[in-house]
Amino acid sequence: MNQGTFVVLASGRGSNFQAIIDRVHEGSINAVCTGLITDNPDAYAIKRAEDAGIPAEVVPYRTFPDKIKYEDALMAVLARYNPDLVVLAGYMRLLGERIVDAYTGKMINIHPSLLPAFQGLHAQRQALMYGTKVAGCTVHFVTHDMDAGPVIIQRTVPVLDDDDEESLADRILVEEHQAYSEAIKLFFEKRLRIEGRRVRILPDS
Ligand code: GRF
Repeated sequence: MNQGTFVVLASGRGSNFQAIIDRVHEGSINAVCTGLITDNPDAYAIKRAEDAGIPAEVVPYRTFPDKIKYEDALMAVLARYNPDLVVLAGYMRLLGERIVDAYTGKMINIHPSLLPAFQGLHAQRQALMYGTKVAGCTVHFVTHDMDAGPVIIQRTVPVLDDDDEESLADRILVEEHQAYSEAIKLFFEKRLRIEGRRVRILPDS
C-alpha cells in the first residue's frame, strides 16, 4: 500500500518537527515526511532535517519584494512536493487565503494555548498575564482566520504559582510533541472527520 506523505513548515527551533519525525522513524506514524520548508535560512530545523536525511527547502521570506511573490514561490515548492498533509510546526507567518484554500482539510497547525483562548503571539505569556490555572496546546485544521480552525486535539497542563513564561512554555511543549504526533497519526489512519467546527475522531478499525 502506498504511504501517505507530509511536509513540515517551520521557522525556527523545530522541536515539534523533531518529535514528529522521531515518531515516523519508530513506525508509530504511518507516513513519510518528504520535506521541510522554511522561510528562515537560519532555522535550526534545517539541521534537524539534514540529520534525518529529509530535504530542506529554504524559501527566504526577506529576499522577496512582497508577500505575494513569497507565496508564489512557497506554492510552487508545495506543489512540487504535492503532499497529502501540510504540517505547520512553529511556522511564524500567516498564510494567505490562496494557500489555505489549496490545502483545505489538509493543513494543520499547533498553537501553545487552549484555543480559542490566547490566539496569536506569546500565548503562554497571555495565559500567565490572565492568571489561568490551566494552560495547554491545541492542534487544529488551518482556516482563513488565525488560530481558529476546527480543533483536532487539546492537551492541558497546570499553571504553577512560580511559573514564568519559559517554565510554562517548556511544560506545554512536552504535551505539544505528543499531541502533534497523535494528530498526524490519526490523519493518516483516516480517522479525522471534519463536521462543521467539530472534528470527530473515528474509532480504530
Ligand atoms: C511551539 O510552541 C508551537 O506551538 C508554536 O511555536 C513553537 C514552535 O516550537 N506555534 P518548535 O519550533 O516546534 O520547537
